Amino acid sequence: MNAAAKFKPRIFSGIQPSGGLTLGNYLGALKRFVEKQDEGIETIYCLVDLHAITVWQDPAKLRDQTREAAAGFIAAGIDPKRSILFNQSQVAGHAQLAWIFNCVARMGWMGRMTQWKDKTAGKNAEAESLGLFAYPSLMAADILLYHATHVPVGEDQKQHLELCRDIAAKFNHDYGVDFFPITEPVIEGAATRVMSLRDGTKKMSKSDPSDASRINLTDDADTIAQKLKKAKTDPEPLPETLEGLKDRPEARNLVNIYAALADKTPEAVVGEFAGKGFGAFKPALADLAVARLAPIATEMKRLMADPAEIDRILGDGAERADAIAQPILDRALEITGMIRSRRS
Ligand code: TYM
Repeated sequence: MNAAAKFKPRIFSGIQPSGGLTLGNYLGALKRFVEKQDEGIETIYCLVDLHAITVWQDPAKLRDQTREAAAGFIAAGIDPKRSILFNQSQVAGHAQLAWIFNCVARMGWMGRMTQWKDKTAGKNAEAESLGLFAYPSLMAADILLYHATHVPVGEDQKQHLELCRDIAAKFNHDYGVDFFPITEPVIEGAATRVMSLRDGTKKMSKSDPSDASRINLTDDADTIAQKLKKAKTDPEPLPETLEGLKDRPEARNLVNIYAALADKTPEAVVGEFAGKGFGAFKPALADLAVARLAPIATEMKRLMADPAEIDRILGDGAERADAIAQPILDRALEITGMIRSRRS
């Protein structure tokens, strides 16, 4: 009943500037952020620096990485005039609403998050930051602070978005309002889970110690081609149908990457290369990846040469984001019983 009709379509999504952007971030998120922007929907994109510090970040590196991520967004096609692009810490409402949600969400909900379990597996969870545990509550605040209706993400964020829906529903229920939307995750396309180039059962990640496991958005043409040519595969040729890739995770991953870069379906890619071995497929993939990604790296470099301009863009985005967020935060504070003692 909390239908889209009540809330105007608005997209929100975020990426942590806790390392360089990878091909996984690009295909699972960024490329799709650009598509949503180009469809003409209102789009708000955030570099979630408050999330990044849930694990230790060197302050100078964090600043550089945030600027680099902003450059990556713009180089990939985010137009900071049509989309709002900003860093989370500059809109205070994220932290304020997260506090309210910390009081709505239950400890058990957080403890059940697979990312929390994965990040603490084999470690002393007691020694992790409280922020890391409460991470999904801040994520719900990011989204609901703007009454966002749709959130494009990769597969790994699905559970966090379900929790966001649970928090919105519990808030609405506890306070007897229909205030927060029940946001829809948007997990679509051929590459919602890009895997490591060294191990098809592991997600491609900026935190993997092996640089050969991933393509970074800053990699130059030679590096991209080399990494793809050395990617782990098997000796079999590509099958006629996707079914034939069922137990071949590395092969399936490369087909998905090709499909996402070429804006085709994996079925179409398999159709095109059926019967061919990786000796033929990998060079074709490397050429395609270089054609699509190398210009982004070049443009990022150009943008990074003017950090003051990046800061100006982020500042402008933060002001525009704040203008949307403030009335929603004010209303949330009012609903929860806070006295509005200052008028501004
Ligand atoms: P993060 O920074 O880990 O990843 C950013 C986005 O990239 C996607 N992604 C991938 N997609 C496909 N294959 C991969 N190997 C891959 N690796 C990463 C992620 O699914 C994500 O969409 N918690 C979020 C950041 C966040 C957020 C939000 C997202 C904070 N607040 C509000 C949406 C809405 C995260 O850590 O993403």
